[in-house]
Amino acid sequence: MQITKLRTNHLDRPLGFGFDKAILSWLTTDTLAARQAASRVEVSLTADESSTVYDSDRVKTVYAPDSLRIVSGMDSAGWALPLTLQPMTRYFWRVTVWSDLGEEAVSEWTWFETPRSNGAPWKAEWITSPFGREAHPVFSRRFVLAEKPVSVRCYIAGLGMYEARLNGEKLGDEVLLPGFHAYDSYLMYQTLELEPRAGENVMEVTLGEGWYMGRYGLKSRAPRYGEEYLLLAEIRLKYADGREEVIGTDENWQVVRSPITFDSIYDGETYDAALKPGQPQSALYAKAPEVSLIARINPPLRKHERFTPVLSPENPQVLDMGQNFAGWCRFYCDAPAGTEIRLLYAEYMKDGDVYRDNLRKAKCVYTYISDGTPRWVEPRFTYFGFRYVKVEGWPGALDPASFTGCAVYSSLERTGFIETSDVQLNRLYENTLWSLKSNFVDIPTDCPQRDERMGWTGDIQIFADTASYHMDTAAFLDKFMLDLMCEQKRLDGSVPCVVPMCRYELNGVSAWGDAACVIPWRLYEHYGDREMLSRHFDSMRGWVDWISRQNDRHASGFLWDGCAQLGDWLSLDGDSVYGGTDRTFVATAYYYYSALLTSRAASVLGLDEEEERYRRLAQSIREAFGNEYFTRTGSISIRTQTACVMALYLDLAPENAKAKTARLLVRLVRENGVQLRTGFVGTPWLLPVLSDIGETQLAYDLLFKQEYPGWMYEVNRGATTIWERWNSIEPDGEMNRDGMNSFNHYAYGSVAGWLYGYAAGIRQPEDRAPSHGMRSICVSPRPDRRIRHFCCRYAAPAGEYEVRWDWQGIECTVRVKVPFGCEAQIALPDGRTQQAASGEYSFTLSLPLPKYTLDAQLDALLSDPAARDAIARLFPQAIRGVAFQYEMHTLRQLLSSPFSEMSDEQIRALEEELSAIEYEPKR
Ligand code: BGC
Repeated sequence: MQITKLRTNHLDRPLGFGFDKAILSWLTTDTLAARQAASRVEVSLTADESSTVYDSDRVKTVYAPDSLRIVSGMDSAGWALPLTLQPMTRYFWRVTVWSDLGEEAVSEWTWFETPRSNGAPWKAEWITSPFGREAHPVFSRRFVLAEKPVSVRCYIAGLGMYEARLNGEKLGDEVLLPGFHAYDSYLMYQTLELEPRAGENVMEVTLGEGWYMGRYGLKSRAPRYGEEYLLLAEIRLKYADGREEVIGTDENWQVVRSPITFDSIYDGETYDAALKPGQPQSALYAKAPEVSLIARINPPLRKHERFTPVLSPENPQVLDMGQNFAGWCRFYCDAPAGTEIRLLYAEYMKDGDVYRDNLRKAKCVYTYISDGTPRWVEPRFTYFGFRYVKVEGWPGALDPASFTGCAVYSSLERTGFIETSDVQLNRLYENTLWSLKSNFVDIPTDCPQRDERMGWTGDIQIFADTASYHMDTAAFLDKFMLDLMCEQKRLDGSVPCVVPMCRYELNGVSAWGDAACVIPWRLYEHYGDREMLSRHFDSMRGWVDWISRQNDRHASGFLWDGCAQLGDWLSLDGDSVYGGTDRTFVATAYYYYSALLTSRAASVLGLDEEEERYRRLAQSIREAFGNEYFTRTGSISIRTQTACVMALYLDLAPENAKAKTARLLVRLVRENGVQLRTGFVGTPWLLPVLSDIGETQLAYDLLFKQEYPGWMYEVNRGATTIWERWNSIEPDGEMNRDGMNSFNHYAYGSVAGWLYGYAAGIRQPEDRAPSHGMRSICVSPRPDRRIRHFCCRYAAPAGEYEVRWDWQGIECTVRVKVPFGCEAQIALPDGRTQQAASGEYSFTLSLPLPKYTLDAQLDALLSDPAARDAIARLFPQAIRGVAFQYEMHTLRQLLSSPFSEMSDEQIRALEEELSAIEYEPKR
């Protein structure tokens, strides 16, 4: 037995994070035991028992009857350490677990370190540069130490963006500090670990403009967050004898001009290595920003994967990284003094050159002016979304070996892994992961390349579930929700479409604003952290109440009418970006969903009054929705795929309309030639709903659709990330003529959520409250013959589940691993169910091949010799061609055409014959 994955508030050894409480979690592996019988947590000031400050002793784990819900003792998916924490202290902790088989295992020591005490006065002053905005400042402070301290920390806040160095070495491995947050509501400081030497040391901090001061946001001419470079730093040195020395920012710090002469998130950076720093000047005292300064809570942004490019065969000046991602290119430059090298970033190649029109007003250029000294060069205060880099000014032939692509994203732990025998599906899956990585750059952005890169709330609302299977998003989205809540305070409860808002005040839009309710609930489903849910509850309530107030004002009752809406953004069934589904329909459906989730959250939090109030509200919205959008006989009046999907997913269809709506959805897909028409709102729920109504095969048909529109269309076009539009590149090879073509938007990547939750079938049960950290779940795999081998692992906080299937002929072996301390209700497609405790399970399924129905696609029938033969004999007209046949997709459509000469009896005979023909589903 082993104890692994020790985390504090979902983070591995967090340094200087501002938590209200330390929430500890761990995993028990390598055991045949089923559950934790008891546990013990020890906390010490050193990585041994010599300075223990807390010892729980052995605590029995008590479960609720017939379940794994822990009613007392420690829950390994998250347990609040009952210890009052001292500031600026590193706490080491370890766990001992006893299993129900009597085994005992002790973990290694891990640690977390607390930040400064909240509100304690700083022994430092905010300083600024005498150059104003004319030059990027490098602040520095020399200090001489008589002896080497035992530990040194620097508590630091730098604006707009900063990079700190000690004796020329960059401190820490984080980039783009301090990250991006609602700077006009709060600022975050970081804790850096320093190792100065005895003797002379130089601390240096270079400041850039970043998100805070530079051009950023949709209204980029509007005032920025701040106009002034600002620095606050407190270096605390501790000596062996207990002495402490503090060096804070003040007028003794000096400033010179940085060789970085320009930086902008959108436009890039310029580094003039030949620039003379000038005479050092004294720093100036600055007015402290008026907002509160808190300890950082965002997971670190770091460089991750490295790519060695190749030269593009189309253009010897262009480097191809082979993957679209966010980050930058590092290069080794050995060029004569005065050489100016320019790197032009792009996502796409067209006509033998980099295509950059889709970057719109973002210039995306890195410029380096050499001073003749060979060195590695890379940007510090910008990033790009790219696959290709065009290099201008390189002396001699371009050598790709001198360049490395660095993917930059927030450091979240990977939790989901899917691998299949289908290369194309694997690529699609990887693309969803790369779009996550590219867009988790401290905030969840829409895209990493053009002049947006903003926290569009709708995009992350849609993708949060998928993201939380792929990676542990808890700390990242918890921080984003703090930003969202800060902005809500400015908007009387409404939620902006982009967070942080950066003066772009579009707000109060359904599916976007609903991020306030959906994200906390997704987090709760995946992590079961009650504290976190309670932190976000005001956002949930604030948003629903705000909609209710709008409705009162517009006297629209429980239908949400009267606000600007984005509808089913970018769907294919309308004549504008808003799509073809009535926008009041979408808004009201989401209003219902948010009210419902708020009542569920209230129930978890024991807020009975709120639970009742929002449940009633949801009920009233549901009734109003039913009256408005369904006829008395149960027909839905908005007849789009998205409308059906929303009505079914959210259970908004009245009883007598459920089956009809499901049939309509299937018709709308089949009679379109198995095509989806859905946009941002409908797409994430389309495949889940098809599975829920027993049409999983149709869901797979959509998944594997090779032509436009569908997921594989872009894979076939060489996509390495998810596109913004189904047709960002048109079937004729041209760029979408309506513009707005990002090749890296994760919304449609939500299809991976279906792979985890439906294909593998790893999900929280729907009929009861989510279990803590997915301790007790449903596993209902849906193997499809087109995927011969499929393996999915999901490391939930409570344990790592695994589902795999392997086909041999018509037999399929399904294997399920339920981790220690967990349980699963396994439901198989042949109807078998099993309640499974921790362990490994194997099932053999004999699933017959599907047989044709009248709803089969005509082209599929006609290309199958057996079916074609039956049709030739029983419906020869179809072989000759019925009028308008090319506009019909299913056999049923053709049979019911006014030009079909088939009698009811003949149709029945044809149906009977076809229903005896088995077929192999096509890819
Ligand atoms: C963004 C989207 C966003 C949308 C809403 C676009 O420009 O890139 O992803 O959700 O606007 O209007």
